[in-house]
Amino acid sequence: METLYKGKAFRFETHGAIGIVTFDLEGEKVNKLGPTPFEDLEKILDLIPKSGIRAALFKSAKKNSFIVGADINLIQNLKDKQDAHRASCKGQEVFSKIEDLKIPTIAAIDGACMGGGTELAVACKYRICSDYEKTAIAVPEVKLGFLPGWGGTFRIPRIVGLPNALDMCLTGKNIRADKALKMGLVSAVIPQALFEAKSLEITESLAKTGKIPGAKLRKISIQEKVLAGNFLGRMLVFSQAKQTVLKQTRGHYPAPLRMLEVMSHVFSESRHAYMRREADAFADLWSTSESRNLVGLFFLTENAKRDTGTSLSETQVKELPSVKSLGVLGAGVMGGGVAAQSAVFGLRTTIKDINFEAIAKGLAHARSLFDKDVKKKRITKIQRDNRMNLMRGQLDYAGFAGLDLVIEAIVENLEVKKKVFAELEPQVGPNCIVASNTSSLRLTDMASVFKDSSRFVGIHFFNPVDKMPLIEVIKHEKSSPEAIARAVAYSKAIGKTPVVVKDGPGFLVNRLLMPWLNESAYLLSEGHSIERLDRLAKNFGMPMGPFELLDEIGIDVAAKVSHILEDSFGPRAAASKVSDLVAKAPEVNGRKRWGRKSGLGFYNWDAPGGRRQAADSTAISSLIGPAQGTSGVKATNSADDAYLVARMFYPMINEAALTLEEGIVENPSQIDLAMIFGTGFPPFRGGLCRWADTLGLSKVVQSLDSFSDGGKVLRLKPLEALKKLNKFY
Ligand code: NAI
Repeated sequence: METLYKGKAFRFETHGAIGIVTFDLEGEKVNKLGPTPFEDLEKILDLIPKSGIRAALFKSAKKNSFIVGADINLIQNLKDKQDAHRASCKGQEVFSKIEDLKIPTIAAIDGACMGGGTELAVACKYRICSDYEKTAIAVPEVKLGFLPGWGGTFRIPRIVGLPNALDMCLTGKNIRADKALKMGLVSAVIPQALFEAKSLEITESLAKTGKIPGAKLRKISIQEKVLAGNFLGRMLVFSQAKQTVLKQTRGHYPAPLRMLEVMSHVFSESRHAYMRREADAFADLWSTSESRNLVGLFFLTENAKRDTGTSLSETQVKELPSVKSLGVLGAGVMGGGVAAQSAVFGLRTTIKDINFEAIAKGLAHARSLFDKDVKKKRITKIQRDNRMNLMRGQLDYAGFAGLDLVIEAIVENLEVKKKVFAELEPQVGPNCIVASNTSSLRLTDMASVFKDSSRFVGIHFFNPVDKMPLIEVIKHEKSSPEAIARAVAYSKAIGKTPVVVKDGPGFLVNRLLMPWLNESAYLLSEGHSIERLDRLAKNFGMPMGPFELLDEIGIDVAAKVSHILEDSFGPRAAASKVSDLVAKAPEVNGRKRWGRKSGLGFYNWDAPGGRRQAADSTAISSLIGPAQGTSGVKATNSADDAYLVARMFYPMINEAALTLEEGIVENPSQIDLAMIFGTGFPPFRGGLCRWADTLGLSKVVQSLDSFSDGGKVLRLKPLEALKKLNKFY
């Protein structure tokens, strides 16, 4: 083995007739692309033709990871559009040099191969990957609001065909080894234990014969051939893809639309012309506010991964006992979901309920979730059975003495919860954390029954547990930093993003969500339609409109929460009568008007728990008659869309300012993360506070002042906390 070059990122060694280009970025756990790696690569690419090798292998020296993509810090720090353009052209140039090498090249992918890593891999003539479960190939740039700008959009369609390429680029999804083989993205999948040796063997064979032994080359289907050569056929694919994108994004995300425009030229332009088009698009997209916000969100998520939620350092937290086995009280919607989610991440859960039917139902629900994973080929049947074996149901506290954490998810009733905590505490060991999943009760009111309340915290999951990425970890005055840090670590260990919140009515997410739902209900009572308000909220970027969401949450539950908040905050949280009137309406054909679960709400439903039909507007307007004229806001003839959106969403901004002043959370980025992950607040707006800053807080104050008729309508009056702020960030 002879080393011909060694830089800070890449080294180049020759081994007889083959060359090995190894990426091993100095001082980093993973390989990221940027100016230094490109400088090294260029030097190596100049050396290769002179070195006499007949095949080149591109590999990573990092364990279980190929290349995680471009260094996002560098992308964020690009100076301006020209700089972004230059960065795109640089990568294109280097990868085109790889493509233009006269010898066969092969990328050996073991672990994550993301973004720029994939663009490097597709510039090679061949790719192989390991069967390691975390091996995945993707171009996730769309999630950051731009497009693969290093030639990826040009090369991927030529390898996997246009429909597959559009799917990869527009969704950014991970392609696992077996799928990659099927798509022709890799030529072989190799057991991880043999990966290194086999990669060398294959490269040797490439040097000798120009072929990979046993590799199956993907056959291009007739449909793909027609598409590649047929302009009209391609246009049809693009127009269908565009419709799907518009339906999914309501036009809020420029990247997928621009990507479609760029890629529509992929088979009709020279490489040179197309690359310029791709670089132009990268620079334009990089400078959009949507991309800035999505990149900002990426960093918020990354920081949250490192945040211990306390003043304890990451090293200190590592020394605390981790949660290996837990108990869940209550096998209902939430308890069952928590047990299932913990099992997915290999944690053993003991579920205690007061009746066997509930346990059987909870376990059956978990199994149905895992069965979906089996069906989608994400896991095998054996893995599903292993997950099921991690859960045990029982009616008593047997074995609770050995648990690290117990999460209570029983009925939402303070007295019952207090009784259960008093009964539980003597059953668990001294190091066990006890958590409540309550959504509306205050921890402080339950903490008094504990002998040691420092172990008591809130771990507030969102429904459905398997889908919602956020957890609010709640601290009351006596919760110890260790208990909080362990709850935070547990939340991360089961794949969730935790935000630590101080105890208070509605905690953070429900407290900020309610003003939106409440004001929407007032707007309904002022005569605006369910459909219009829901449509405007979705056009704003929310995943659901307020009435669609109320039907999902349960109108009875929402009414209860709105009263809890009103009791706590007084007239400025005055609850609209709408939810009460609807929740208490007479049953229709045996159905209460509670929303999806009862099969009737603001909308008609085909069955309880079934599918939503049209809004039940006539029935609702007669039901909410008594709420008319209670909103306090003077009827306005100029209720245009912008006015309605502001009425719905500005009250959230008002409340956000107060939660910060009260120290419910410490900084606006926690609010933004929690609102995006807990309510689906549009990510492209960067979160509630980021959006408010874009509007200008003085404008928000002025609007609220006018909505509230100079402060007369207390729930719309701009709060001092908001007036004092110049900006959230
Ligand atoms: P659920 O009614 O589906 O389940 C409650 C379960 O607790 C039932 O299986 C019941 O048999 C069991 N149970 C009652 N008393 C018990 C006791 N003493 N010991 C053991 N088990 C007992 O309720 P759900 O919706 O799962 O809610 C549970 C908790 O989670 C509540 O505090 C609720 O506020 C909270 N929560 C609910 C959310 C939701 O969307 N459903 C969201 C976030 C929190």
